[in-house]
Amino acid sequence: MNFDLHPEELILTNSLKQKIIDKIGRDSISVSQYMELALYEKDYGYYNNLLHKFGEAGDFITAPMVSKVFSECIAKQLKELLGHIPNNRNILEIGAGNGQMMLDLLKLLEDDISCYFVLELSANLISLQKSFISEKAPHLLTKIVWLDSLPTNFDGIILANEVLDAQPCDVIVWDNGKINERVISVDSNNNLVYKEVQLQSPELLDIAKKINLNADYYTSEISLNNRGFIKSLAQSLSSGFILLIDYGHSESEYYSLAKAKGTLRGFFRHQLLDDILVYPGLIDITTSVDFTSIATTAIDNGLDFIGYTTQAGFLLNCGMMEMLNSWHQKLGDTEYLRLTSQVNYLTSPNEMGEVFKVIGFSRGIDVAHWMGFTNNDRSYTL
Ligand SMILES: C[S@@+](CC[C@H](N)C(=O)[O-])C[C@H]1O[C@@H](n2cnc3c(N)ncnc32)[C@H](O)[C@@H]1O
Repeated sequence: MNFDLHPEELILTNSLKQKIIDKIGRDSISVSQYMELALYEKDYGYYNNLLHKFGEAGDFITAPMVSKVFSECIAKQLKELLGHIPNNRNILEIGAGNGQMMLDLLKLLEDDISCYFVLELSANLISLQKSFISEKAPHLLTKIVWLDSLPTNFDGIILANEVLDAQPCDVIVWDNGKINERVISVDSNNNLVYKEVQLQSPELLDIAKKINLNADYYTSEISLNNRGFIKSLAQSLSSGFILLIDYGHSESEYYSLAKAKGTLRGFFRHQLLDDILVYPGLIDITTSVDFTSIATTAIDNGLDFIGYTTQAGFLLNCGMMEMLNSWHQKLGDTEYLRLTSQVNYLTSPNEMGEVFKVIGFSRGIDVAHWMGFTNNDRSYTL
């Protein structure tokens, strides 16, 4: 696929491609190593470079950008949970993107929390978040602390929207009894190309062998990074709650026949790309989340599982419709209709409503019931 690239985009992608080619040399790299470079290389990686990526004018749009109703509902859930935390009513947001959810949540929960911590991998996005909050609500800056790493003994609520889908993963090919790995090498024309080799990693092999597939030939992803990410969140949380929102499925859906080519994909200017090797540094690369592996890793690391539901179910459980209706008169018909169309996007099964899921965990504080998981429980699918 060819896009009209601006000269600075061309320079950036060619520079990163050359860095990746140099790293590969005569060898090959795994897809997770490729994603690490394409997304997080310090100067040119997608999340670190200065090109615009969020919203209509960028490559993708997330729920907090779709509508403030999303953060209003999340805030209701957080407020309920904060009520169970005796001291240190902290929130820690991982991967805050353009800072929209941070701004909206802080406006709503300013008086309920001690501190809003942010752990963001991208130095460029940290600057963006700081200038966004300075511009929109500078008084909130005193509540925010940007961290360099996960805290030890954190008390409070850890929150992440669309962070799991941005973690590097590996691509496994199950081929008539053989288990191979798709890796990336360089051809004689200096192009990045895929190659299949026998899967070597004992950790990946162990997981790949246990996955129940009903096909002779099947390609999909396994994310050791997501397992590691959940493990480190579990180790960091001393007492409190974890709330994660992302697109994905249970293991049986993730590895079903309908997804025999996997879920790894790219996005460039809102267009879906099947080939993740095009334009490194310019395209978002993402994969759906296997929520069964998230739940089992969390439980194995001492967290209590609370609930799993769809985004639509979660938002409705948080009283989204009642909230919207109560605003109708104050907002007037035009604004009300605008919000209902945003809400439709957040909850419609054809848009974000079903494919996005919400999962919750706790440690050390006994709150078995959260409002967001009241109805439409999907835990039985995990
Ligand atoms: C798809 S964006 C989502 C942004 C935001 N949460 C939202 O909903 O709009 C992914 C974000 O997570 C950050 N990120 C990815 N992996 C991370 C990690 N391991 N630790 C901290 N931030 C991370 C990225 O830099 C980016 O800000």
